[in-house]
Amino acid sequence: MKQPLIAPSILAADLLNLEQEIETVQKAGADLIHLDIMDGHYVPNLSFGPSIVQAIKHKTTLPLDVHLMIQPATSYIETFARAGASILTIHPDADVHCHRTLTEIRRYGVKAGIALNPGVSPDVLDYLLPEVDLVLVMTVNPGFGGQTFIPSMIEKIKMVSKKIKSAPHSILLEIDGGITPEIMPQLHSLDIDILVAGSSIFGEKKDSYKQTIDNLRGNK
Ligand code: DX5
Ligand code: ZN
Repeated sequence: MKQPLIAPSILAADLLNLEQEIETVQKAGADLIHLDIMDGHYVPNLSFGPSIVQAIKHKTTLPLDVHLMIQPATSYIETFARAGASILTIHPDADVHCHRTLTEIRRYGVKAGIALNPGVSPDVLDYLLPEVDLVLVMTVNPGFGGQTFIPSMIEKIKMVSKKIKSAPHSILLEIDGGITPEIMPQLHSLDIDILVAGSSIFGEKKDSYKQTIDNLRGNK
């Protein structure tokens, strides 16, 4: 695998010390900050909204990778774009007119991402790729941190990888859910651009964040 970028998911961070957590992962080598926006409707959990995105934007120079698990997403694109998202990723099954939503995301100068749940076929990409800058393959069912990586997603990552390579423009491949240093050998041969990791980073003591990030990236 090429050296992936690492996007710590703050869902697993110490939320009462969020500023410090972000500073620590930034110093430890994080490339992006992943923010999971959950609405208690599309996914059975609630997390945070645009004001947290905006607050974080004021505190870090890292790009904000905003993962929208909300239904519908369309009406919130402008709000999250203005809050400072660098990437906005939507779920096609949460948005009837996802082609239009992806176009809308780009209109704000934000990278448009599409996320595929474990049960969603990569075929959904066929007519959407021209509007997409990033494909996020969910390697757990969305809604919670700390779940176990679903091994059958490896085949799917390969299929998605093939599809995005056939596109005339460059598209990033990101994976999210259950990513730990222990499963990295299984991902070795895959072309993944961004690894999202929540509990494997924030579940450790602060002085281990760098080690975990290095291990995920494939550095010793
Ligand atoms: C799950 C979220 C993930 C989650 C990952 O719905 O999209 O980003 O925070 O957490 P871990 O790395 O603990 O599986
Ligand atoms: Zn996520």
